[in-house]
Amino acid sequence: MTDTIVIVGSLNADLVVRTERFPQPGETLHGSDLATLPGGKSANQAVAAGRLGGTVRMVGAVGDDGNGTLLRDSVAASGADTTHVVVRPDTATGTAVITVDGRGENTIVISGGANATFSPADLPADVFHDAAVLGLCLEVPMDAVLAAARAAHAAGVTVLTNLSPFGAVPPELLELTDVLLVNEHEAAALGDHGVQRSIVTRGGDGSVVHDGDAQPVEVPAVPVDAVDTTGCGDAFMGAVALRLAAGDSLVEAARFAAGVGAYAATGAGAQASYPTTAQLEAFLGT
Ligand code: RIB
Repeated sequence: MTDTIVIVGSLNADLVVRTERFPQPGETLHGSDLATLPGGKSANQAVAAGRLGGTVRMVGAVGDDGNGTLLRDSVAASGADTTHVVVRPDTATGTAVITVDGRGENTIVISGGANATFSPADLPADVFHDAAVLGLCLEVPMDAVLAAARAAHAAGVTVLTNLSPFGAVPPELLELTDVLLVNEHEAAALGDHGVQRSIVTRGGDGSVVHDGDAQPVEVPAVPVDAVDTTGCGDAFMGAVALRLAAGDSLVEAARFAAGVGAYAATGAGAQASYPTTAQLEAFLGT
């Protein structure tokens, strides 16, 4: 069985400032020095799976600028293949403006840049030939998300969809999705979705796994003193993709992902805080 994970979607440079608390509308606060860190939900998922030893192929777009180099280097350093990350001339790499408060919570506003130019034409013809799992989120245009889901579905690849950032969800995307990954707020906003296999994440309260007709299973969170929760959900998703590609059940994948997501909260930044297998084992004491 092949275990290649294909991640199709966004790469962002995260422009991060820490503040003790979030400003009110119209308020100005002093913050920390600005840090520019590799992020983007899809790139984060790819790095999480790659750093844990997965065979990962990243498909997306960056601009021909320093942030694009930062992103391609970070994804490649995790071991993921970046051959299919296209470099768009005269376009800025996607960015995310992030504030992190004293409790490690964040606010994020994204500016699409090259991500917004990613189109079905950027999907390589044979990109799913050896794939087990496709990871999707909603930071690139929906026509490209749908094209990837259709091609993966036709190739018999498990389509793992994260509906973030949440917005209008075409019914076809849900029909093509094998495993849905949403947080509790997205699940409530979505309502009945018809996807048989799903994980609903609930932050510090863990997650609930729905797998077909089986009784829902609650998977506890791994308790942690959070430094920065940015990208924890993406680390969780990358870990789920990794374990599904390896043949685990959805519950096993969610249990593993709980540890990875918790580890990611212990360090600053998104990709910068993701563990290798050795780091994860030391953290969990396994
Ligand atoms: O989920 C966290 C990510 O959301 C950040 O890395 C940012 O780039 C946005 O995509």
